[in-house]
Amino acid sequence: MPEIFINGQAVQAEADQSVLQAALANGFFIPYFCWHPSLSIAGNCRICVVQPEGKNWVEIACNMPATDGTRVLTDSDLVREHRKATLQFILLNHPVDCGICDKAGECTLQDYHYDYNGERSISIDAKVKSTKFVELSRRIVLDNERCILCTRCVRFTREISKSKALGIKERGDTSLVRAAEDASFDADPYSDNVVDICPVGALLSRSFLHKARVWYLKPTPSVCPGCARGCTVDIWHRKPEWRLNALDPKQNESIARVTPRENPAVNGPWICNKGRDLAQIFERARATAPMLKGKPVPLQVAAAAAVRLIRDAKQPAALVSNWGSNEELAAFKKALGARMTAFVKPDHLPQPGERLDDDLLIRADKNPNMAGARALFGDAPVRFAEGTDLVLVWGEGVNFTALPRGAKVIFLNAYLQPENGHADVFFPITVQTERNGHFTNFQGVVSRFERCFTRQEPVVDAEALFAALADPAGGRA
Ligand code: SF4
Ligand code: SF4
Ligand code: FES
Repeated sequence: MPEIFINGQAVQAEADQSVLQAALANGFFIPYFCWHPSLSIAGNCRICVVQPEGKNWVEIACNMPATDGTRVLTDSDLVREHRKATLQFILLNHPVDCGICDKAGECTLQDYHYDYNGERSISIDAKVKSTKFVELSRRIVLDNERCILCTRCVRFTREISKSKALGIKERGDTSLVRAAEDASFDADPYSDNVVDICPVGALLSRSFLHKARVWYLKPTPSVCPGCARGCTVDIWHRKPEWRLNALDPKQNESIARVTPRENPAVNGPWICNKGRDLAQIFERARATAPMLKGKPVPLQVAAAAAVRLIRDAKQPAALVSNWGSNEELAAFKKALGARMTAFVKPDHLPQPGERLDDDLLIRADKNPNMAGARALFGDAPVRFAEGTDLVLVWGEGVNFTALPRGAKVIFLNAYLQPENGHADVFFPITVQTERNGHFTNFQGVVSRFERCFTRQEPVVDAEALFAALADPAGGRA
């Protein structure tokens, strides 16, 4: 293990680490723009300079191997002078439009300017104008005036998503990031990661564009249900102390954006675009009323009817949801598992045009908890026994015409769908953003998701409902 000295202090570096990596791992902060732990080293931004001890020059720490005996200073007068000059250079043509930039509050250029420069531009020349709001794809726009040409986005499409969809054309202060003309950036299902890794506000997500200042939002840890990978994510939504009373109050209870929650065991620092679009899944029109044969009734009436159907059935079966959490699945098993023959069914199948799977993250099973559900209920294919007279259907993905003829149906679903009204008893249930729980991904890794929004009565938690349906007194959901 090489021993290096940072500001005179001995530090044990890992083999193959750079001085920048060893410094960060041991609590010495060195600023960086172009370096990213998952990408190759470009060494073009020059903000990470350190001074070799006893020398009168600086070198970039991101490309300096941490070899035994290396001695560097990270905060000398020379280093500070160079960082300041680098920031003056980067800001020569960068517009000062933080007031309208989506990255404000999360921008490393903004932070480093105040930490290491803090002075007005020394340039007396007008800033070079460049192209703004260039459509790189249907999802992402680019402001070239803000781009600092760190090439992180270009390297991402070459090294991680492999679409090779971005490149840089021209030279010097006319250099421009551009998308390949074959629209491959549109076809890259991981494209939105470049918005996260752009150190400035040059790459902007159209779905989040000018939607909210990030300091009005808070992240809640969650798990993407889009496939069996179960990527850990942050769901960003309005902070309670910044609730809107005017404008559109729906924004208080809606998803503003989704970003990866870094997790080396599952998804590293990335997610796919489907994970960014969780609002399209969770914010579909919701079912809000319990029903008997399509007629809205109070929750207690529906629960009592379901209890009677379960009590009177001779051959009851259940199709359990693999969008249910481990806790909900266990609650079902405890309450009704001995009473019903249960099969696990997929709630979602791949959509036309959706990438089935790949070597990075995306899995062919488009459900989050097949592993958790199968651990409790096995993997037998759905086969109803002769004489099945009741089916409890939990979640989406069931063709009602394929259910046994004449069987009664109890249906639990979160969304407004025509089948809701066909069930003998219908219960509107919560979506993932309204409850806490865990999913088990295809590798057996268990990840937790937390509640972001409040449940609106009479929408019911499936976990509580199952306990109530096992109650011979008539059900108190
Ligand atoms: S758009 Fe952002 S990530 Fe891409 S080169 Fe410019 S500053 Fe770097
Ligand atoms: S790879 Fe799967 S779990 Fe991960 S973000 Fe995409 S759809 Fe969601
Ligand atoms: S981070 Fe080292 S040169 Fe950019």
